[in-house]
Amino acid sequence: MTRKHTFVGAYAHSDNKRQLSVCFGFLTIENGKITQKGSIEEFEELLSAGKFSEHIVINLSDSQLIIPGFIDCHIHAPQFPNIGLGLDRPLLEWLDKYTFPLEKKYSDTVFASKVYDQVVQRLLKNGTTTACYFGSLHLDGTLELVKSVLKYHQRAFVGKVSMNLQNDAGYYNSTEKELQDTEEFVQKVLDYKNELIQPVVTPRFAVSCDHQLLSGLAMIANKYGCSMQSHVCENLKEINYVLEINPRCKSYCEVYDKSKILHEKCIMAHAVHLTDEEIDLLSKKGVSVAHCPASNTRLKSGLCPVRKLLDNNIVVGLGTDVSGGDSATILDAVRRTMDVSTCLELQGADNYSLDWKEAFYLATLGGAKALNLDDKIGNFEVGKDFDALLIDAYAPGGPIDEYEYTVDENKEEHAVSLLQRFIYLGDDRNILQVYVKGKSVKTI
Ligand code: GUN
Ligand code: FE
Repeated sequence: MTRKHTFVGAYAHSDNKRQLSVCFGFLTIENGKITQKGSIEEFEELLSAGKFSEHIVINLSDSQLIIPGFIDCHIHAPQFPNIGLGLDRPLLEWLDKYTFPLEKKYSDTVFASKVYDQVVQRLLKNGTTTACYFGSLHLDGTLELVKSVLKYHQRAFVGKVSMNLQNDAGYYNSTEKELQDTEEFVQKVLDYKNELIQPVVTPRFAVSCDHQLLSGLAMIANKYGCSMQSHVCENLKEINYVLEINPRCKSYCEVYDKSKILHEKCIMAHAVHLTDEEIDLLSKKGVSVAHCPASNTRLKSGLCPVRKLLDNNIVVGLGTDVSGGDSATILDAVRRTMDVSTCLELQGADNYSLDWKEAFYLATLGGAKALNLDDKIGNFEVGKDFDALLIDAYAPGGPIDEYEYTVDENKEEHAVSLLQRFIYLGDDRNILQVYVKGKSVKTI
């Protein structure tokens, strides 16, 4: 957008993990950034003083509101052709039987490019303006994911997956090749010099990476100042196996800590079965967690105690974890986050349930913090990039009907109801527009 755009109407965002703001007013966007905002009264004053004469003014209808774009902190792009398949198996079996054989196919860059174009478009349609992706083991295949992200103007971290330990599918590389390919991948992504995309160093997990590879990868991340991502304590069999092959370590997190991968630019998926010592360690090291409720329940891995992580000052964002997760929308992760936390509370954990406002925070500002992007995105503070969704709660043909009945007493309450309904039962039909850095990017 080169011309200034001003949206007038309702918008909602999280100020912090406890505070949701629902406002009636205006937001001005210039060169992709939020440059001004204010109340409706201020808008009207400025309007009559002619201050918006150069702007494109977009008046929202009574059923519309603007919210920050969703942030998917953990998703496996190459696994989409398996979405909804094989979920009756536990993690390690599912990886061997379904996931590794599919991921091996991404040595074919033509196949990779086709899948990744579909994936990125699907996520944008669902309102995911930022995604933190796992690619596959392949350097060139994963560069195809980078190209798709750039083509459709999504904000993303992309990681070439690293593995050097044997598995039945023969899906791993030598340590030397892994370190070489990872460094080349990082350099090639950085060479784009595009602020929307960043490389992320991606050891798959301690079942498929040894100490030498993990520490070598940590050094590469450190050399280029880039983030790292992996999986931790997802499933009990996985944890036992990791402890078996690392007999000198008392915990899974210690394996990672010894390899120096636990730091503020590290995001770990799952973290379902952490011990109190591990929670303490992740908290002290500033490691973030991507909570993936769909895959944790579908693969019967466990119920992640998100409230406990938050109470211990661990930053948490949400992940769909496709295809361990069966849904590619963060709206689904929001709902399952509420459900999993409620199950834990019903089992006796005091005050564990997360309400819709907290789950909305995790999907937006929480995710931005988890990816260290909260100086740029996550809410509508002036100076941040405009990554946003234009929602119409009663979009024709959508899942929510409007009735001639309301308990709302004013415009703010009406806007809260629109957001609440969208969170509980909306879908992509309610997402009219998707903006990344001010540019409209919804393509299908
Ligand atoms: N642990 C290691 N790899 C994977 C993966 O692809 N999906 C999930 N859910 N867990 C993993
Ligand atoms: Fe995963």
